[in-house]
Amino acid sequence: KVERINREQMNMEIIREAGSILKKGGLVAFPTETVYGLGANALDEKAAAKTYAAKGRPSDNPLIVHIARLEDLYEVAEHVPEKAETLARKFWPGPLTMIFEKTSIVPYGTTGGLETVAVRMPDDEIARALILAGGGYVSGPSANTSGRPSPTTAGHVMDDLNGKIEMILDGGAVHIGVESTIVDMTSEPPMILRPGAVTKEMLEKEIGQVLVDHAVLDADSKTPPKAPGMKYRHYAPKAELTVIEGELESVVSTIQKMAGEKEEQGYRTGIIATEETVNRYSGSNIKCIGTREDESTVAANLYGILREFDADGTDYIYSESFDAEGIGSAVMNRLLKAAGHRVIKI
Ligand code: TXA
Ligand code: MG
Repeated sequence: KVERINREQMNMEIIREAGSILKKGGLVAFPTETVYGLGANALDEKAAAKTYAAKGRPSDNPLIVHIARLEDLYEVAEHVPEKAETLARKFWPGPLTMIFEKTSIVPYGTTGGLETVAVRMPDDEIARALILAGGGYVSGPSANTSGRPSPTTAGHVMDDLNGKIEMILDGGAVHIGVESTIVDMTSEPPMILRPGAVTKEMLEKEIGQVLVDHAVLDADSKTPPKAPGMKYRHYAPKAELTVIEGELESVVSTIQKMAGEKEEQGYRTGIIATEETVNRYSGSNIKCIGTREDESTVAANLYGILREFDADGTDYIYSESFDAEGIGSAVMNRLLKAAGHRVIKI
C-alpha cells in the first residue's frame, strides 16, 4: 500500500495506521532527508528478522535506531558522552548517526549481535511523526534490496520491496541523497565510520579532533571497516562502473575514448557527466549528475542515476570523479564502492 503524504498538511490518520503496523511488528518504508528507510519496531527482535529478510541483508549488519525526541536517546544508549550531547544539540534532527553502548532494551537482533547501538534523529516531519506513532524507536536501514543503490524516491522502494512490506509512505524525492554520517562515540577521539552531509570539518568545529576510519576511501585497506555494512560491495549498479580521475580535460577525453571503444564492440555504455562537461561527450547514454560548483547536487542525483543505468540495461559506465571535500567525501566514498574501487588515474 502506497500512501502519498503532504508534509505541510500531514494526514494523521495515515500516520496512525502506519504506526499501528509498526507496533504489530510490520514493515513501513518512510522518507528521511537522506534516503528512504525501511521502518520496523527497533525493540522487537522479530521485526528485525523481517527487515533482514525483506532486504536480503546479512543479519550481522546492524540497523540504525531512529528516534524523534532527544530524551529517548538515553533509553537506548548507556553512556552518552558530553561530546555526543554537543553534536546532538547542533545536528539533530539531521543526517548524523552516533554509536553508543546499547542498553538492555535494545535487542541483539537490531544491533547485529553488537554491544553497541547506532542512533539518529531524522530531519523529516513524516519520519518523526511515524517514529512517534510507532512507539518511539524505529529501526531504519535504507529501504533497498541489499546490494542495490539506496532509494531516493518511493518509486525506488517499490521497485525493490513491492510485495515484501506492508506500506510505503511517499513523501516525494529526498533532499540529500546519500546516507547519514556515522560517528562512533564509544572511542576517543570519536571516529567517522561513514561520511555524509555532516562533514568532518563541521564535526571538528563543535568537538575538536575527529578521526576517519581508514576504510572510508582506501581500497587497499587490510583491516575491515568498523561499520559492518561498509564491507559489502554496496550501492552498486548492475553495470561495471569505472571512475576516471585526473585533470578534467584529460578525464573527458579518456571517458569519451573508453566508452566509444566499448560501444564499437556492441556494448551499452553510459557516461556520468557534469553540467560543466556534458556537452563535450557524444555517442553513449550520457547523464548529467549535477554541477561541480555545488557537489550536493551530485549527491542528490547519484543513486537515482545508477538506478536509471540499470533500467537502461547498461553494461559499462564511465564516471568523472569529484573533490573528496565536504559532501564530496560522501559522494566519492559511495561512487568508489559502486565501482568496486575500479579507478583509472590519469
Ligand atoms: O541515512 C541513513 O542513515 C539511512 C536513513 C534511512 O536513516 N539509513 C541507513 O541505514 O543508511 P543502513 O542500514 O543502510 O546503514 C547503516 C550502517 C551500516 O553500514 C551498519 O553496518 C552501520 O550503519 N551500523 C549500524 N549500527 C552499527 C554499530 N553498532 N556499529 C557500527 N556500525 C553500525
Ligand atoms: Mg543501506
